[in-house]
Amino acid sequence: MLELTGPTLPRRSRAVALLATGAALTATLLGAASGTALAEPTAAKAPAKAAAAPDISLANVKAHLSQLQSIASANGGNRAHGRSGYKASIDYVKGKLDAAGFTTSVQQFTSGGSTGYNLVADWPGGDANHVLFAGAHLDSVSAGPGINDNGSGSAAVLETALTVAREGYKPGKHLRFAWWGAEELGMVGSRYYVNNLPATERAKIDGYLNFDMLASPNAGYFVYDDDPTIEGVFKTWFAGKNISTEIETEGDGRSDHAPFKSAGIRVGGLFSGAETRKSAAQAQKWGGTAGQAFDRCYHSSCDSTSNINDKALDLNSDAIAHAVWTLSGGSTDPGGTSFENAADVAIPDAGAAVESSISVTGRTGNAPSALKVGVDIKHTWRGDLVVDLVGPSGRAYRVKSSSGSDSADNVVETFTVDASSETANGTWKLRVQDIGAQDSGYIDSWKLTF
Ligand code: TRP
Ligand code: ZN
Ligand code: CA
Repeated sequence: MLELTGPTLPRRSRAVALLATGAALTATLLGAASGTALAEPTAAKAPAKAAAAPDISLANVKAHLSQLQSIASANGGNRAHGRSGYKASIDYVKGKLDAAGFTTSVQQFTSGGSTGYNLVADWPGGDANHVLFAGAHLDSVSAGPGINDNGSGSAAVLETALTVAREGYKPGKHLRFAWWGAEELGMVGSRYYVNNLPATERAKIDGYLNFDMLASPNAGYFVYDDDPTIEGVFKTWFAGKNISTEIETEGDGRSDHAPFKSAGIRVGGLFSGAETRKSAAQAQKWGGTAGQAFDRCYHSSCDSTSNINDKALDLNSDAIAHAVWTLSGGSTDPGGTSFENAADVAIPDAGAAVESSISVTGRTGNAPSALKVGVDIKHTWRGDLVVDLVGPSGRAYRVKSSSGSDSADNVVETFTVDASSETANGTWKLRVQDIGAQDSGYIDSWKLTF
């Protein structure tokens, strides 16, 4: 008889419902591109490993900022909508992207009697029905060169895109990048883009990531509090670097994510702070100066290349790459062979263990020391689940234990198992047991990648 924690208490609280929503979004954002069902069980060529995001070169990002500064200096000190420095900025970014193999297009609009420009760059390939989109506004205010606001976001997104090309990255999703015009006049360019995008095209955008002000001299680390999956990807990345983040609270509606969000598209982004002063508590955890604005040169003539915090720019640029790579689900190593069983197996609530088998043939020698076990279990309380991989020898390898506190839905995860003492050929099993009453589910599919 299983002893359960508080079996008579209703375990579904409001908080649980919210967590469940987050988990569902994870599945949609991360799994959709690869969610096509295979005949079961099948052997197919598949990615051997998910690609980790590369480091984004701070030097390269700063070189773009120097170019934007030179453009401003040569065009009356700014890169504002309707001024020659704006179009020159568009030409600079477009030239880099075209040379790297992007498909670019310049969209014109009119605001305040002047022509404005959005630059959109598509990376060929990926699932056209699932677009991951990252953008930044390229215009400055007319008071200055706009190097932090928003040369920083523009340069970081540009260098991320160029790194995609340099790495020959093959994302699962289709990647799109954009540089918006006339944000400083009220998100005019991005709103024009969204309003003119047919509903069928809008529906293909799985997420829009916005980057506006990433290198504030007295930097804070703010993550937009919108789509929980996107937010989680950023927060986890910063936590891994021991940087605490705060939720971005002042900016809802203050940058180009707003038109996307209004159109029902999931959004997220990063921000290092503008005119608001850093609190004592914030200075404690982030360094910098309490009582001083995050960016004292916000919307001023002094927002030049000397108004840039290298550490914030470096971290935020790497965080963009991490999010783009993670959320687009791609691969760099197409060498592995996968075996999948996509037949559903019900997992009885608080019942006996169930198994799903995969028969591996045609391999020689032992299984790898880093065997990838891709698991897709649908369940309404995954803390109930204990999951083992069972090798041909009958030995079980625990990949997931139960946890009374893990109330999230589903186990959609790739585990790595040292299976080097098993022969590769033979019958492998995924063994799943539900050890807690009330919530249940099923094995949707699982696969082994050698
Ligand atoms: N370009 C934005 C603006 O001038 C910068 C900004 C201020 C911002 N606060 C923000 C961007 C909060 C994102 C979130 O308004
Ligand atoms: Zn601004
Ligand atoms: Ca259960």
